[in-house]
Parts: sequence; structure tokens; C-alpha cells
Amino acid sequence: MNSTKVIKLDSVTKVYKDGDRTVTALDNVSLSIEQGESVAIEGPSGSGKSTLLQILGALDEPTSGSVNIFGVEPFQLNDKELSKFRNETIGFVFQFFNLLPYYSALENVMVPLLLGGVSETDAREKAKTVLDELGLSDRLNHRPSQLSGGQMQRVAIARALGTEPKLILADEPTGNLDKENKAIIADLLASVSKKGITLIVVTHDQLLSERFGRKLRIDGGRLLQPSNEKVKDES
Ligand SMILES: Nc1ncnc2c1ncn2[C@@H]1O[C@H](COP(=O)(O)OP(=O)(O)O)[C@@H](O)[C@H]1O
Ligand SMILES: [Mg+2]
Repeated sequence: MNSTKVIKLDSVTKVYKDGDRTVTALDNVSLSIEQGESVAIEGPSGSGKSTLLQILGALDEPTSGSVNIFGVEPFQLNDKELSKFRNETIGFVFQFFNLLPYYSALENVMVPLLLGGVSETDAREKAKTVLDELGLSDRLNHRPSQLSGGQMQRVAIARALGTEPKLILADEPTGNLDKENKAIIADLLASVSKKGITLIVVTHDQLLSERFGRKLRIDGGRLLQPSNEKVKDES
């Protein structure tokens, strides 16, 4: 197997210190996801889903265990290399969109491109193209507050797609949307995964998770489902 095409977590544990209390948010999680897979992560509130996503996104370092994302061990990199790696490899989509409020839709999508060293002209062109693909060509100059929730999430997905990442991570991307917009975002994410981008999505939404190739369940920081098979055939 080519290790550069796999995301691999080996015995990852994450312990948070909360005053003099400690919380084991992830307990010895091992997991392997191949490039191009689409994976839904389900589990009750507080089970460690967001923590797992933060680690997969190289945003938060595990207390122990190793992380390899397409051949790179992100937590071995220095800060500058790590930011570059994240910017080039990973797109993030969040429940509350996390758009920059004083920037237009277009500018929000341009930001990661500019941070990645793309020229302003090219960033503008690319951002327009992606927003157009997501049906937002008439919303380029609107600020987040002038957009509906569904439109904001589409801008956030455009922002994630703009840099052409290999991996998109989404944390409850439909959690704050009405039924109609949930369906639109589910369609969009399913089409993202058809492009060969690896997609890992935390969601409670069955309509969304059933669109993906694999479901993982986590409870109390432990992965319940054997990590490597699509459909487990116990024999
Ligand atoms: N920064 C933090 N500091 C302390 N405890 C945290 C922190 N982040 C998460 N936790 C705790 O870790 C556990 C898992 O949290 P989280 O990954 O956010 O779960 P989920 O996304 O499944 O709701 C919870 O008990 C939560 O309270
Ligand atoms: Mg969460």
C-alpha cells in the first residue's frame, strides 16, 4: 500500500486538562482512511468527534500516538511548515460557517488562496469560478450577514474547495440548517467526494451520512467500528 495515499492514526489518545480534572476525549484510536474515501463520523455529544476531526486536520496535537496524513506527520513539522501543509492539503467546513464577517463571499474564498501565495488576480478568478460552480455567482459581493445559512455554508464549502485540497473535513456542516438547505449541502458534499477528494464529515444527519462510503461510530472517545472495512463481515 502506498502510504502517501492514506490517512493513518495509530493509538491516538487526547487528554484535556480542565483545571485539576482531566478528560480523555480520545482513547487509543487507530484508524486508516484511504485517499478518495468518504467517511461519516457519528456519535453522541461529547464522544470526541470534534477532537478527532481537529487531530485529522492537524489543528490539535494528540497527547500520544501518531498521525500520518498522506505521508506527512504534521506534528513533526515546525509551525510554518504545518500552516503551509494545512493550507495546501486540507479544507475545513464548520457548523457555524466561520466566515469572516467583514469580508464579502468572494473575499472569504480568496483568503486561503492568498495565504497560499496565489496572486490576487488568480485568487479572484479562482474564487469566482468556485462560487459560480456552487450557484453563488450573484452573491459574490455579499457579506455573510447578507446571506442565508445555506448560502453561507456554500461559501464556506467554496472556501474549502478553492485551494484544491486533498482532504475536506466538515464538523456538523448541516447542523445549523433547515431541511431544504441540509439537502442542498448533502448533495454538494456528495459531489465533492465524487471528485476524488477525501471527505470526513462529523454528522448526526442520516440524510448526509448515508451518502458516504463508510460510517464510523465513536463513543466515550473510543472508535466502536472496526476501522478499515466498509461493511464488516464477521465470520
Ligand atoms: N479544549 C477542551 N478542554 C477541555 N475539555 C475539552 C476540550 N475540548 C473538548 N473537551 C472535552 O472532550 C470531550 C470530547 O469533546 P468533543 O470532541 O468536542 O466531542 P463531540 O464533538 O463529540 O461533542 C468532551 O468531554 C469535552 O467536554
Ligand atoms: Mg463536536
